Amino acid sequence: MAVKPDTIIEANNAAFSYSGEGETVSPAVSGINLQVRPGEYLALVGPNGSGKTTLLKLFNALLIPSGGEVMVKGISTAEEARLPEVRRTCGMIFQNPDNQLVATTVEEDIAFGLENLALPPDVIRKRVLDTAHILGLERLLKQPPHLLSGGEKQRVAIAGVLAMEPECILMDEPTAMLDPAARRDVLKTVHELNRARGIAVVHVTHFPEEAARADRVAVLDKGKLVADGESEDILTNLPFLHRLGLQGTTAVELADLLRRDGCSLPPKIFQDRELVDSLCLLAQNS
Ligand SMILES: Nc1ncnc2c1ncn2[C@@H]1O[C@H](COP(=O)(O)OP(=O)(O)OP(=O)(O)O)[C@@H](O)[C@H]1O
Ligand SMILES: [Mg+2]
Repeated sequence: MAVKPDTIIEANNAAFSYSGEGETVSPAVSGINLQVRPGEYLALVGPNGSGKTTLLKLFNALLIPSGGEVMVKGISTAEEARLPEVRRTCGMIFQNPDNQLVATTVEEDIAFGLENLALPPDVIRKRVLDTAHILGLERLLKQPPHLLSGGEKQRVAIAGVLAMEPECILMDEPTAMLDPAARRDVLKTVHELNRARGIAVVHVTHFPEEAARADRVAVLDKGKLVADGESEDILTNLPFLHRLGLQGTTAVELADLLRRDGCSLPPKIFQDRELVDSLCLLAQNS
């Protein structure tokens, strides 16, 4: 028998329906088979209402599947007694950090989850300081979170999750409320955590440029997983993306327009740099 690859999250035929008042509601997600492996960066994309947030909540046991199962490090999320283990393995970051920040100072906020683990105070203190250092929050430790900027708040939310030493971070549109500089800043931090510490990331995003930086992209449509593959393969398949109302990266979209206008570009252009280099080459040869 083939050895099963190591997985952190495994959805087996998972489904979830939000129950209505006595009426039958069609499932928000169904028939989901998906694995998240240690250290990988997975982007989850799909139109509004396709089930991305629902799936992320299933991964973190905020929702329990109404069909099939979700396993986190071999533990079924339906096992209520083991919820703390599941939540410690998979930390969740939401779109709006205001919903996640609860304490009166940044340091208390980062320590919040740790306090519930009944760790000794000196261990908590060290973890808070280490995490604040990683996220560049040292000078803000005594500040009340509500006085911070959106990007700073999102970094405090990430710090609170990171302090729990998760193996996977689940992020639901974490940059949606941020300006371009704060977006870059938060993304850089998350990618560094992924690369340097091997923390797996599942990142729900509507930004093709963010999805393009993932190792893998999974696509949801009407609650079904309709594609799961390397980011380049998925995000250069414009007929598929456009059918779902999605877009490729700017470079992919522009290259497509240029080709339609008769510009002879290589068949696969994915990154901005590839498009710029191809256009420069064309200009030189014309
Ligand atoms: N609390 C809820 N009660 C009832 N139905 C819900 C609830 N939350 C979501 N749904 C429904 O479940 C489906 C999937 O919603 P979900 O929020 O998972 O989509 P999404 O892909 O995250 O969308 P978006 O891109 O807008 O964030 C939608 O049809 C939605 O209306
Ligand atoms: Mg959502």
